[in-house]
Amino acid sequence: MRIAFLTGAGMSAESGVPTFRDALTGLWARYDPEQLATEAAFRRDPALCWGWYRWRAALVRRALPHAGHLGIAALANSGHAVSVVTQNVDDLHERAGSTGVIHLHGSLFASRCLDCGHRVSPDPILADLPPGDAGARETPPPCPACGGPFRPGVVWFGEALPEAAWTAAGDVLDRCGLLVVVGTSGLVHPAASLPMRARRRGVRVVEINPVESAVSTFADEHLRMPASAGIQSLLDRLR
Ligand code: APR
Repeated sequence: MRIAFLTGAGMSAESGVPTFRDALTGLWARYDPEQLATEAAFRRDPALCWGWYRWRAALVRRALPHAGHLGIAALANSGHAVSVVTQNVDDLHERAGSTGVIHLHGSLFASRCLDCGHRVSPDPILADLPPGDAGARETPPPCPACGGPFRPGVVWFGEALPEAAWTAAGDVLDRCGLLVVVGTSGLVHPAASLPMRARRRGVRVVEINPVESAVSTFADEHLRMPASAGIQSLLDRLR
């Protein structure tokens, strides 16, 4: 059976990566996305934005995949056809061993020039990462090709999703026999439309989330527990 996982920020919460909308702890409870996660915000104050994304990159670099990430990778290695579609910009699925992960909202580790799209290696977002203090202002490095500022490789509010990723995610959803939705509030479209799309095809949808979300109505089954425990219990059943 083809199994697809659609993951959100809750998938990485137990690795110490904050979610976006969880009360008090979520990034958007502490920072204003309009000030940090739009192109207009970046053009207005590039040092504030770049510094903030550097802080997030440093945080993700210190984080480790948990049993849930490892379980998904192990399932693929045990002969199941497994695909991972994620809204997350971290690389915890890949570090757990999952391959071909589809990143709908880009990646923290794919910086490019805001003006010409030029990329360099190593990624400047990782250069001499600052210590933990959030939001240290830092001027983004200039592009060696055109002099424009480097921007993080994430999809900002108001920006379209990478077309190739969206098309690939659609293919995965249209071919899977089971969809497991892990740790998303289901509030951000078009990613949030994917569970409904699978459900319309009659695919079984399992939700793993400690609380109700906007996905819950499209799920056949709800595992009201954290990602690591929910995925482990699902894998025990699949085995
Ligand atoms: N295990 C599973 N789910 C969890 C856990 C956990 N340990 N901790 C929290 N959750 C759930 C929350 O209950 C919530 O429903 O994860 C969800 C996180 O929701 P959001 O913070 O809204 O994150 P997400 O759905 O991924 O956001 C979508 O919004 O801000 C943008 O681009 C950003 O990709 C992001 C998109």
